[in-house]
Amino acid sequence: MKDASLLLLPGDGIGPEVVVELRKVIDWFGNNRGYNFNITEDDLGGAAYERYGKPLADETLTTAKSVDAIVMGSVGGPQWDNVERHLRPEAGLLTLRKELDLFANLRPATCRPALASASSLHEDLVSGLDILILRELTAGVYFGEPRGIETLPDGRRRGFDTQVYFESEIERLLHAGFELAAKRNGKVHSVEKANVMESGVFWREIATRVGKEYPDITLEHMYADNCAMQLVRQPKQFDVIATDNLFGDILSDCAAMLTGSLGMLPSASLGAAINGKRAALYEPVHGSAPDIAGQGKANPLATVLSFAMCLRYSFDDNENADLLEQAVDNVLDQNIRTVDIAAKGVNPVSTSDMGDAIVTALGNLQTAA
Ligand code: IPM
Ligand code: MG
Repeated sequence: MKDASLLLLPGDGIGPEVVVELRKVIDWFGNNRGYNFNITEDDLGGAAYERYGKPLADETLTTAKSVDAIVMGSVGGPQWDNVERHLRPEAGLLTLRKELDLFANLRPATCRPALASASSLHEDLVSGLDILILRELTAGVYFGEPRGIETLPDGRRRGFDTQVYFESEIERLLHAGFELAAKRNGKVHSVEKANVMESGVFWREIATRVGKEYPDITLEHMYADNCAMQLVRQPKQFDVIATDNLFGDILSDCAAMLTGSLGMLPSASLGAAINGKRAALYEPVHGSAPDIAGQGKANPLATVLSFAMCLRYSFDDNENADLLEQAVDNVLDQNIRTVDIAAKGVNPVSTSDMGDAIVTALGNLQTAA
């Protein structure tokens, strides 16, 4: 038996319904693959604001710091648009990232074979796509000070944020990028705006220096705007894209769409390894999609695939991670699709049917083995 403690944070919008499906999958691994999961579930984001008066309660944060891994659904919704910034749902997520120092955000964009035709790009451009956006997650303009909206003595108002990076923050992100590339296809694109921004010049200098420690990895520098363009022009030229918090936010949405659906993409946010253990949060890249919440339309696969990343990175369990990813591919091959990825002429299945289909596929794989 392998003991594993998990904190599940369903959050808002479609978060709760996709996490219900994830629990079916987690239970299957508990019953069939030798895991003894100790699961805590709690609120985050808008749900936590309603229950605790803030988007991340102190007790929740304490639990988050104690568990092996956290899996969340999504946060946010229009009903909290007018809440003060530090109490908004997103603030709960940002605090969690910051407090756990989850600086390395892995956002793979892989095009599952069955879905190549669902992309908005030509099939040949995306089929077989396997790239990884590595986004810095705890610094940059998301957290830089000063920030604010102010009125100058002459009456003019202005809003401002600060893009700021310590050398150590860029270094550790780039090290993570090179280490990931070493296990993949050996190429890192370091992305910034060195043509306009001082922090970009600084980023490039450090990327170049860190790159010298990895002679077997190819390092290329690219401006963020060009990277956005190249992602839709010829996405397969990339392996690992290492970039800052804001560019990573934007480029990962762009990369996500290449794969056919935002509903398919998982992510992992990892801290530094300390005594062999690292803080880790797994979440789908998609948002809370309030427009379809509660209708059984949401695609739970991004959350399911996030759990596969959890098995891989938190429990060092490639075998079971591969098994779960295979189950997802098998279900897609059977043309079982939620509405976001449904092929023409095929009736889409509900969120919960999709969860059941994954569990069935896992059972079939287990029997076949
Ligand atoms: C993401 C989201 C978040 C971000 C929001 C919800 C705060 O867009 O994880 O990409 O901007 O980082
Ligand atoms: Mg985003």
